[in-house]
Amino acid sequence: MKQQLQQLLEQTVASLKQQGIIPAEAEPRIQVDRTKDKAHGDLATNLAMMLAKAAGKNPRELAQLIIDNLPQSSLITKVDIAGPGFINFFLNPAWLVEQIDVALADERLGISQVEAPQTIVVDYSSPNLAKEMHVGHLRSSIIGDAVTRTLEFQGHHLIRQNHVGDWGTQFGMLLAYMEELQAKGEEIDSNLANLEVFYRAAKQRFDESEDFAARARNLVVELQGGDEHCNKLWREFNEVSLSHCQETYDRLGVSLKRSDVRGESAYNDDLAQVVADLDQLGLLQQDQGANCVFLDEFKNKEGEPLPVIIQKKDGGYLYATTDLAAMRYRQKVLNADRVLYFVDARQGLHFQQVFTVARKANFVKPTTSLEHMPFGTVMGEDGKPFKTRSGTVAKLADLLTEAQNRAYELVKSKNPDMAEQDLRSIADVVGIASVKYADLSKNRTSDYMFSFDQMLSFEGNTAPYLLYAYTRVASVFEKAGIAPEQLTGQVILNHEKEIDLAGKLVQFNEVIASVARLGYPHLLCNYLYELAGLFSSFYEACSILKAEDEAQKQSRLKLAWLTARTLKQGLSLLGIDTLERM
Ligand code: ARG
Repeated sequence: MKQQLQQLLEQTVASLKQQGIIPAEAEPRIQVDRTKDKAHGDLATNLAMMLAKAAGKNPRELAQLIIDNLPQSSLITKVDIAGPGFINFFLNPAWLVEQIDVALADERLGISQVEAPQTIVVDYSSPNLAKEMHVGHLRSSIIGDAVTRTLEFQGHHLIRQNHVGDWGTQFGMLLAYMEELQAKGEEIDSNLANLEVFYRAAKQRFDESEDFAARARNLVVELQGGDEHCNKLWREFNEVSLSHCQETYDRLGVSLKRSDVRGESAYNDDLAQVVADLDQLGLLQQDQGANCVFLDEFKNKEGEPLPVIIQKKDGGYLYATTDLAAMRYRQKVLNADRVLYFVDARQGLHFQQVFTVARKANFVKPTTSLEHMPFGTVMGEDGKPFKTRSGTVAKLADLLTEAQNRAYELVKSKNPDMAEQDLRSIADVVGIASVKYADLSKNRTSDYMFSFDQMLSFEGNTAPYLLYAYTRVASVFEKAGIAPEQLTGQVILNHEKEIDLAGKLVQFNEVIASVARLGYPHLLCNYLYELAGLFSSFYEACSILKAEDEAQKQSRLKLAWLTARTLKQGLSLLGIDTLERM
């Protein structure tokens, strides 16, 4: 609705320009907002106030001219001027009916594909392979996946990139430890079954033995030099670690596959070239033996430009070097129009710096959009970064198991007689959905508190609440003894609650567009939560089974059916499965 109204206003502005009422060079950003109070209509704009000065008119006067020049449209029944010059629009219920009918008749719920699909590279999850994935990687994986699915649904061409940390000095330590185990005749695979334990044991050896540490450092050099033995060990290690990751993705319903992995090591051969190219462009400066790019855009406390280190004194490359190489690859080979990075907010400065260097070096086209999509830290209920009871970093797999066990207790308490097998399979879905939804429903830029009690509650903006709302619609059809495919007749919007629900249903399109543009899945969560709430009020106020006549009953069932499909589609964009009962 917003979009349609925006278009009408654009046409109006064009016509006012033609008449010389507003200057031709005015390029107002036309903003249409939903009103808080229905007495002020459904939508409002401050356009007249924005343009008043340029037009040399008072805002209310200009508002009237805008209204007089608004093209005829079935969208609106009434327009008012309010306060200092706001324009309020009252929507036409007949238009709503039409939109609902279109959505009902369409597989995609009336949501059209974008006219100009972009190639969008999304860098997400991207754990370091030396260790097991932990709760910090949860956010990137879940949020990145939801935005990816949404953009894909819009018709863009998505390329997922799992930029795993599979290179660097820790690998020397791990390889040295693998060698030691092999020398003792131990099985490597079974030792790697618990990466966390393996990493700690290797670290302990590294810290306690100078010989071991020297061997580890030596192995890094050999690995980088392409030594076959080292490379074989390294591949073996990564293989195990990547299959751990894949298990977690599959279990979480994150759409990443093995073929999406393109880790840091993939850019090794290009790093020397990155340095050479930056040098050729005159961007490199030596600082204490290291090769750096100094950027005026970023200054320290003393007001001196901050360096981005590209190559260390010993010739080694850094995280930033790899990211520069990756950007070039994403531009040249993948042909990206947009590159999105779902990475911890604490890496904000890193990304702003490498983006700036990449632009100066023309590694990306000026039109290509590079976007860091930061997220905050996962906190425990004690207000500190989330840890397990034993104080170690929480392993993702254990958290998921705990969520599923807790969901089992919850589902069982509601359905004491349900068969064990059904309880388990429902609990598995609810458990995963709860963990994901709790994360997705918060504004990603803030820290968020991990609380099993909160995420598994049936009250509030939670997965159990939404999944339950979805199953409720299914039971409506069961009670009515009608299959959705058999519904006939026109949608009739008489009751206030019917109009409210319908008004929300037709906003789905706009919400998806916002998530796609801004990378904020919580907007979709809020929408689904509000939708479920409006459905509840509608269901209480507008009896379906005791409707006045058959036409009204059919119409109400249609609204229920579209609600269910919208919930299902919305949750699926978030990467969350629905249940037919729970
Ligand atoms: N491996 C990094 C980490 O765990 C995240 C990588 C993010 N992506 C990137 N292109 N830098 O912190």
